[in-house]
Amino acid sequence: MCNTPRKPPMISPIVYSLFNSPINLPNYPKGQLSYRLFPDGESYIRFEDNLEGKEILFLDSLDHPNEKTIPLILAANTAKELGAKSVGLAAPYLAYMRQDKRFSPGEAVTSVYFAKLISDSFDWLLTIDPHLHRYKSLNDIYTIPTYCLSATELISGWIIKNVDHPVLIGPDSESDQWVAQIARAINAPYTVLEKVRLGDKNVEVSIPEMGKYKNRTPILVDDIISTGQTMIKTLHHLKALETKVPICIGVHAIFANITTSALLQAGAGKVITCNTIYHDSNEIDVSPLIYQTITGI
Ligand code: R5P
Repeated sequence: MCNTPRKPPMISPIVYSLFNSPINLPNYPKGQLSYRLFPDGESYIRFEDNLEGKEILFLDSLDHPNEKTIPLILAANTAKELGAKSVGLAAPYLAYMRQDKRFSPGEAVTSVYFAKLISDSFDWLLTIDPHLHRYKSLNDIYTIPTYCLSATELISGWIIKNVDHPVLIGPDSESDQWVAQIARAINAPYTVLEKVRLGDKNVEVSIPEMGKYKNRTPILVDDIISTGQTMIKTLHHLKALETKVPICIGVHAIFANITTSALLQAGAGKVITCNTIYHDSNEIDVSPLIYQTITGI
């Protein structure tokens, strides 16, 4: 779980995004940079600003990490070579956090190697609700200063404003950290289910005990919606239990080869996510969270 971070070492950064970012930091100048791919797929990068002595902030989420990480690393190294005073990365979604142990012999523990790649090229990293499961903190694998923010307060605010009488459901033990915190903030009951992953797109989720919550709206909360199967299996249980129409809330809208409509068809009345990754379900804006942390307000 993330703790309240210290302020990143920036006063007035120039902000660059190589990929479209839904995050809006209007008070900082936007840098001018050309980024494109050569016909062979290699990256072409050119800064159009003078970077000498400047604080640089790259603002790009790391969904589709294999596509995005190499260009970002190349850009960070260019910025340093061109004289930037510091180069930070604000990645609202941080990839490669889930392979945090060798589950089978011979497997790559990719979280460690990915952390090394980022730590070697950036001076600091800011992110929102990284998937901290077996790691206690990002410092377990990142060697640069890290600033770990959480969207739980914003999610709590959304629920208070939009739902009367909720009951929160965390679909697996990892979601406990988010669900418990939100439930405390909005003074609502919660339950956490047990999940078994049988394959990349195949999970089993235990049946929630909803008997005493029939008059409440179930709100499923998870950090990541990827294949959507965790949410879908939980929605099937709720449908069979004939609860009120549930709402799904995810922090990070990965939506790998699936659309919101699959969750709606499975019984969700609404699917809400934070805009850490562009998606049509984005309804909670995390820009103020990032802005306030950088400015130290
Ligand atoms: C993993 O433990 C995460 O907290 C999410 O539950 C998981 O990533 C969701 O994946 P999917 O949408 O593929 O079921």
